Amino acid sequence: MTALSHDVLIVGGGLAGLRAAVGLCDTYDVALISKVHPIRSHSIAAQGGINAALANNPGGKDDTWEKHAFDTIKGSDYLADQDAVEAMCREAPGIVYEMEHWGCPFSRFPDGSIAQRPFGGAGYPRTCYSTDLTGHVLLNTLYERAVMKGVRVYPEWYVTGLAIDDGVCHGVAAFDLMNGEVVPIAAKATVFATGGYGRVYFYSTNALINTGSGIGIAYKAGVPLKDMEFVQFHPTGLIGTNILMTEACRGEGGYLVNSRGERFMERYAPRAMELAPRDIVSRSIQTEINEGRGFDHPLGTYIKLDLTHLGEQKILAKLPGIRKICIDFIGIDPIREPIPIMPCQHYSMGGIDTNARTETGVPGFFAAGECACVSVHGGNRLGGNSLLETIVFGKTAAGAVDEYLSRRPGAAREEVVLTAARKTEEKMTALVAGGREKTFSLHGELARTMSMNVGIFRERAEMEKALEDIGRIRERYRNVGVSSPARHMNYELMNAIELEFMIEVAHTITHGALLREESRGAHWRRDFPKRDDEKWLRHTIARMSGDGTCGISFRGVTITRYQPMERVY
Ligand code: FUM
Repeated sequence: MTALSHDVLIVGGGLAGLRAAVGLCDTYDVALISKVHPIRSHSIAAQGGINAALANNPGGKDDTWEKHAFDTIKGSDYLADQDAVEAMCREAPGIVYEMEHWGCPFSRFPDGSIAQRPFGGAGYPRTCYSTDLTGHVLLNTLYERAVMKGVRVYPEWYVTGLAIDDGVCHGVAAFDLMNGEVVPIAAKATVFATGGYGRVYFYSTNALINTGSGIGIAYKAGVPLKDMEFVQFHPTGLIGTNILMTEACRGEGGYLVNSRGERFMERYAPRAMELAPRDIVSRSIQTEINEGRGFDHPLGTYIKLDLTHLGEQKILAKLPGIRKICIDFIGIDPIREPIPIMPCQHYSMGGIDTNARTETGVPGFFAAGECACVSVHGGNRLGGNSLLETIVFGKTAAGAVDEYLSRRPGAAREEVVLTAARKTEEKMTALVAGGREKTFSLHGELARTMSMNVGIFRERAEMEKALEDIGRIRERYRNVGVSSPARHMNYELMNAIELEFMIEVAHTITHGALLREESRGAHWRRDFPKRDDEKWLRHTIARMSGDGTCGISFRGVTITRYQPMERVY
């Protein structure tokens, strides 16, 4: 086995990873590993836009980064660390203009300035967009820049483990899917930008690649995770497929309607209506469904997202991708008919515990984007802050890595990455020689129990049931076998490795959710329906102990100037 070696290794080809790579490649030998071709990364699926207070833009005259910070903190149900939120919102306009100058084709207002639309929980229309393909254009812009600047990309390589020794990160072990080889990769600095874990849930807007491996790998290597119980459910997933129907549908004026023909949001958020934050809108839709005011469909009970009153011209101009998805996947043209939707998992607020510099506490190991928890989203993320977070903290990671490397840490130790790669080889051999359990069926059971028992509304008995199921699945996982010993493009083998990490991710979510006896943001306990700042205005930190169990400790929330208050919209 021969080890590869780079100064910096970035894992993940989405916006956070690409932005980190672009920020470092002029000075260092930077390599980027991605499970898929980078422009198939999940950032591409973000539709509605990226938030920035562009002062004096006709979109939001008089908007300021401080107002953006306030909306984000209130949206987070006061769990976000306010210093980190302030840093992100202060950086936001510069980030958007930088992407514009690098060629990102934003939609425009008639005066030529970057177009902005209203999004949930925001006091101003501050979501900059490119029709309903914002993630797509941002990702292509950054990928082109990375290629132009000579970033070395390893596409279709899957990282299987971190190489940490004596508390320092020396790189990773990776599986080169095309050649079927396990490759040790030594790096002085490793940045995880591996995205979220949506596929731990059965109903999710996330791509199949979003298995949370980066989070699980870090956890199993002893790196703590933060606030894992906070899982975002997007209000509007297309019935049957769970494809995202962007919040921009409501930002552009779409209504939510129940089977009585009511715009029911007036009961839940009389001022903001459909543009309340996502946790509130998702709960409202689910309540309508649970109380019998939904529409029946063979694929599930749904609520109508009605755009018909917006008119053909506006839908074609602002929401062309949504229209195409609806026509292609369920044969409905939103110009003429409402879209059947239901809430589903969308985003991971929790993740690898980092500070606002993307540092994890393990020298040489950094994390940015959805896999990380800084925390800027706290208990509930506002729409449009995810794209922002990826680019801001991708850039921040580049600065932090540069600073770390300028302190001249020792060279990465090759024997540490070789050991990590040998462990992966052993694991693969065991999986190929394994038993009768199949990854797809265990994954299905895991995802179902998470959607059924650790969903929008939670209570003790259901979560205990989920923990039992996860324990059983973990036992059965010991007997997982892979059908073919072939290594070339063996996705079944990769999926079997991913499943081990998914089980641990599901466990940390459920364990944290059971422990947190209050309702805050997206974490809603039927048995504890109130926010409890006295006991729970704090982060949960999950750490795997030597015997494989999950230990949880607590950390206070950083408050700068925004005192917690009641959250009404
Ligand atoms: O609804 C959306 O377009 C999603 C945006 C986001 O998750 O930030």
